Amino acid sequence: MSITIEKDMDETRQGEAIQMEGEGHKGKKLYLESYGCAMNFSDSEVVASILIQQGFTTTQDSDEADVVLINTCSIRDNAEQRVRNRLTQFNKAKRNNPGMVIGVLGCMAERLKKQLLEEEQLVDLVAGPDAYRELPNLIQEVEGGQKAVNVLLSRDETYADINPVRLDKNGVSGFVSITRGCDNMCSFCVVPFTRGRERSRDPQTIVQECAALFNAGYREVTLLGQNVDSYRWNMTSKGKIKDETKPTTNFAQLMEMVAAVHPKLRIRFSTSHPKDMTDDVLHAMAKHKNICNYIHLPVQSGNTEMLKRMNRGYSREWYMNRVAAINRIIPDCGISTDIIAGFCGETEEEHQDTISLMREVEYDSAYMYKYSERPKTLAQRKFEDDVPEEVKQRRLEEIIELQMQHSEKINKAQIGKVEEVLVEKVSRRSDEQVMGRTDRNHKVIFDQEDAAIGDYVHVKITDCTRASLLGEIVK
Ligand code: SAH
Ligand code: SF4
Ligand code: F3S
Repeated sequence: MSITIEKDMDETRQGEAIQMEGEGHKGKKLYLESYGCAMNFSDSEVVASILIQQGFTTTQDSDEADVVLINTCSIRDNAEQRVRNRLTQFNKAKRNNPGMVIGVLGCMAERLKKQLLEEEQLVDLVAGPDAYRELPNLIQEVEGGQKAVNVLLSRDETYADINPVRLDKNGVSGFVSITRGCDNMCSFCVVPFTRGRERSRDPQTIVQECAALFNAGYREVTLLGQNVDSYRWNMTSKGKIKDETKPTTNFAQLMEMVAAVHPKLRIRFSTSHPKDMTDDVLHAMAKHKNICNYIHLPVQSGNTEMLKRMNRGYSREWYMNRVAAINRIIPDCGISTDIIAGFCGETEEEHQDTISLMREVEYDSAYMYKYSERPKTLAQRKFEDDVPEEVKQRRLEEIIELQMQHSEKINKAQIGKVEEVLVEKVSRRSDEQVMGRTDRNHKVIFDQEDAAIGDYVHVKITDCTRASLLGEIVK
């Protein structure tokens, strides 16, 4: 993603929030590109904010940049390879622009530390996810002829006081981080190593940020955390209160606080963890019309033994009990998931259990991956990555094929309904059409008529393709 600055919002907070010294980098140009999950895109908005406060302006053209930063992902090997290719391209461009600073941020920076700088010589600067406040100094060090690295992880950094510069193009839908890090240690996953310990952000700053977004014209916020259900302000992970003089807040309570910001502000959140998702969260969703009826609930596998090897902390039965609770408490709730094909030791029966679980749940949509072994993880140390590549591929294809059938079936079932849709942007198909989403997170394409971006309209669903619904505005 290259960046564009749409709005300069929340001026009341801005003055007190980011009191950086001076504008030590006045007139310099920043090019910022992001990979990976929503959390990374949200972090890039924090990075842009920190650097703009120091006098940087942003550019969409890396060739004219003084500083090129690439915010990276380590989740699977191919994510890292893509970044290496990009860094090689930037290094070629640097030959014509020798003063250019090339820096790597995010999960790859944290995972590889000095390696990209010393062994591979692809970058001048390395900053991990908790080191972004240091970026102005790190850039200065590089300009002074040194290489700069900061990959210290923090137990309490949440960037709570930083007012992110919004990098999305529409000004309708914004990300708001509520937790950082992850304490779950799923055996396949590199995130606990790249993002450090889990910590929750002060709920007041979350509510303020959401209110500021609404006042700036935004109509939807997505609350972000690797496991939003473990959000706990002023409490330890063992359920003890940290400071008796302050209130405690769990995720269900946080959602209620955010829902109260404005009835016209839609609330979404990601990611829910099956082991921690409580009925209280579901009741909060049912109670507030502006909390969207949609849950991303990654299952990873439909087999209990496999889930044990994955260290996910739930069984197939537990997961299905959570799905039943969703269907009971929030009728017509969309559910999506993540699935990994071919994790260590996966037998054909175990794979078939994933298929049968998919049939039982019938997900609206799914992100489906082949297992990719990651250094340092529990799985890499304990198990063998022993499912042959062609078997992984075949199982993944079976999973994808089934999911396509389910998505199509669910899309078809929407035909004839009238849905409230938030208009997000002009459609890629035609200038006269717009794209919006239903409460349940289905994309709908329809003729714009007199609807503006950011409006709520009622749309009758008339047809569907594999990826989206088609409809027309009803007055
Ligand atoms: N915190 C979220 C997911 C973060 S990573 C959660 O717990 O659900 C997003 C998805 O990437 C995961 O849900 C998983 O399906 C996938 N993933 C993570 N590590 C992987 C690996 N080593 N190989 C393949 N897929 C992986
Ligand atoms: Fe990774 Fe598991 Fe944490 Fe998700 S919950 S980020 S999969 S360790
Ligand atoms: Fe990737 Fe890091 Fe997110 S590894 S998925 S960018 S937390």
